[in-house]
Amino acid sequence: MATGIPNSGITPPQITGAVTLAYPGKRATDEILRTPPARPKLVTQLNPTVDSPTPNRLYYGENLGVLAHLREDCTVRGQVRVIYIDPPYATRSVFHSRKLANAYDDLLAGPAYLEFLRERLIFLRELLAEDGSIYVHLDENMAFQAKVLMDEVFGAGNFRNWITRKKCNPKNYTRKTYGNVSDYILFYTKSDNYVWHRAVNAWTDERALREYTNVEPDTGRRFKKVPIHAPGARNGATGKPWRGMNPPPGKHWQYLPSTLDEMDARGEIYWSPTGNPRRKIYLDASAGVPVQDIWTEFRDAHNQNIHITGYPTEKNPALLERIINASSNPGDLVLDCFAGSGTTLEVANRLNRHWIGVDNSPEALRTILRRFSHGAAPMGDFVSVASSGVSQDELTLFSETGIPESIGLNDTHHPIANFSLHATPEMDMAGLENKTDVTPPSKKSRSSSPPQPCVA
Ligand SMILES: C[S@@+](CC[C@H](N)C(=O)[O-])C[C@H]1O[C@@H](n2cnc3c(N)ncnc32)[C@H](O)[C@@H]1O
Repeated sequence: MATGIPNSGITPPQITGAVTLAYPGKRATDEILRTPPARPKLVTQLNPTVDSPTPNRLYYGENLGVLAHLREDCTVRGQVRVIYIDPPYATRSVFHSRKLANAYDDLLAGPAYLEFLRERLIFLRELLAEDGSIYVHLDENMAFQAKVLMDEVFGAGNFRNWITRKKCNPKNYTRKTYGNVSDYILFYTKSDNYVWHRAVNAWTDERALREYTNVEPDTGRRFKKVPIHAPGARNGATGKPWRGMNPPPGKHWQYLPSTLDEMDARGEIYWSPTGNPRRKIYLDASAGVPVQDIWTEFRDAHNQNIHITGYPTEKNPALLERIINASSNPGDLVLDCFAGSGTTLEVANRLNRHWIGVDNSPEALRTILRRFSHGAAPMGDFVSVASSGVSQDELTLFSETGIPESIGLNDTHHPIANFSLHATPEMDMAGLENKTDVTPPSKKSRSSSPPQPCVA
């Protein structure tokens, strides 16, 4: 693998300005930010004693208006440490749950889709903390265009990774193409100074022995040898001889001579029989193998060991664990405004983060509430939930008593009941009532407490 040389000193021809994406119907940012905020009503307040400026909230509503509403709330605006969204992918499809309930439509395409996504990204940037991160999950339909939009909204310099996720096992395609097993997560931050806990995979004995082949005779410490020079010639101290030795042509020492002397004094330099210095990297100083940008271990549900809700396109919770652990600390606020089955919310809760979720699908809301109270079920068992003694009809949305008692679909599940549920006035609660025993909000809802206004 060739490594380019940074700062070569050559100035290429300059054309200034950012690269932008042109498409019909693209509105000005200011105009988008003038979107009227939704006025959600409080439907149910569970466990009101939660001690946080931003107690957990679940919104049933169209997310653009809810995001505009959250932007007016100073406990949320500029406070969200990590955002994960898994929006529709412009597949021109309609998605059903495993029980064949209509879950959501994914019919927008082309410019209409891009503007839909961009409007939400613009608001999400407003909600993100200065040291916050955003992860946007897409597939090949729109990831490339979305990358340009995210460069526009968050700044190309704040792009961190294009993560490739293996989403499923190999398939026997009949189409004349290579099998499609990947989708993508675009990772941006709001600034250069962001919360980051490097994810590592623990060493296996086999890999450790393969990579760390040397053992220090005196200490027994296992180490590997790496060069102490880097590409690019330098005129300063790192380009000058050290211990009478020049760096190789076109390269420079990675450290100042004084630092190299200190490292050598500590025994951290390996001298080859021919007198070449190398730096020792010790196995016991390494937490593991740093995670790279291809993630193969988070396939969507594919076997009985994985618990699922049955909501279409629900993501593997371990994927969200990695993201939330890497980019936030306990007590931080996590947001997902395309919440679906509530994977992000459930994982954030388990990792002791506060969370805000939004979705406009009644099936998503039913699924989230069922998940919070009962957990998920092993994949093959989902369709036979009734055999556990739980009738799906018992699991009601917005019931007067709130979340039903946990009945134990999943013995290890700890019910989540430390949140408030809000609905925007235009959501069709009446349509839900017939199917799911919902009491329309007009009969029982109160206004949500007004947001803490922000000083503009
Ligand atoms: C791909 S699914 C998310 C799945 C989720 N990551 C999970 O693990 O279950 C996308 C979700 O976005 C929701 N959605 C789409 N457009 C929306 C909008 N304008 N406002 C709120 N939710 C929306 C859909 O109802 C759907 O539940």
